[in-house]
Amino acid sequence: IKTIGVLTSGGDAPGMNAAIRAVVRVGISAGLKVKGIRRGYAGLLEEDIIDMTAESVSDIIQRGGTIIYTARCNEFKTPEGQQKGADILRKHNIDGLVVIGGDGSFQGAKKLAGLGINTVALPGTIDLDITCTDYTIGFDTAVNTAMEAIDKVRDTSTSHERCSIIEVMGRNAGYIALWCGIANGAEEVLITERYDHNEQAIIDNILQKKKVGKRHHIIVNAEGIGDSFGMAKRIEAATGVETRATVIGHIQRGGSPTCKDRVYASIMGAKAVDLLTEGKSNRVIGYRGGEFVDYDIDEALSMTKDVDQYVYETARRLSR
Ligand code: F6P
Repeated sequence: IKTIGVLTSGGDAPGMNAAIRAVVRVGISAGLKVKGIRRGYAGLLEEDIIDMTAESVSDIIQRGGTIIYTARCNEFKTPEGQQKGADILRKHNIDGLVVIGGDGSFQGAKKLAGLGINTVALPGTIDLDITCTDYTIGFDTAVNTAMEAIDKVRDTSTSHERCSIIEVMGRNAGYIALWCGIANGAEEVLITERYDHNEQAIIDNILQKKKVGKRHHIIVNAEGIGDSFGMAKRIEAATGVETRATVIGHIQRGGSPTCKDRVYASIMGAKAVDLLTEGKSNRVIGYRGGEFVDYDIDEALSMTKDVDQYVYETARRLSR
């Protein structure tokens, strides 16, 4: 391997810059040329490829987002798009590629590996919904941002003796919601993986808590539950407790990464280069059982995971 490329794909996540920096610096110290492919697979198909130097990644470890931009790309899901991508990589002498993104991005890396490009993928998403790993780049920052936002909503919720529904991101996964449920001392955590759509039980709970003197009621809603505003109206009508919904939204994707995201992303970036220089391909890096590990992408994509039942039950027990 002489030249490697790095791209970020799908939703951005704080810590991606730390991973890019590690790929570039470790690659250059291993004697490789490193190229940045801007705007993910979309940029690859447009040959938006730049040379990276050690200096080009200075002053970025503390910044949110991704300096090489990101995108979602439908064309790359087609065999023609994938072949075109592999041809462009070859034209630029890129024989190893580091892909930072979620499950969808891993599919692309797998296809490129099948077309002869050595690929290593890193889990980059705030959602923590990648099955082969207990850690994804960006989750720690995002969940801390959400936690701080919920603390703020809680202040005003208490002052007004209201019920507050706060919707956090996560697509169909409930990890951000579950962690905030515990960290923010929420009265309810609704996650797609467990919610039984029994709104009456929530209403009864609010009324019962009101009776015992609770001055606010915090409900953390995972994005996948949806309809937070509708739920607020229905709850207010049924309980007589003023209820507001807040959707935290994209601020969860931005901001300076936490120490954990900077360090883990840096280690994963370094490991990706090590795997490529060892001649490995079609690998994805994960963090499991306290160790940084790597799996075959096909094996990783066939894994399943669920929220930890004990953690979920603990969140519920703590809210009583
Ligand atoms: O996957 C990250 C994520 O922020 C999800 O939590 C959310 O559902 C989605 O991306 C939002 O995507 P977009 O930025 O395209 O609206």
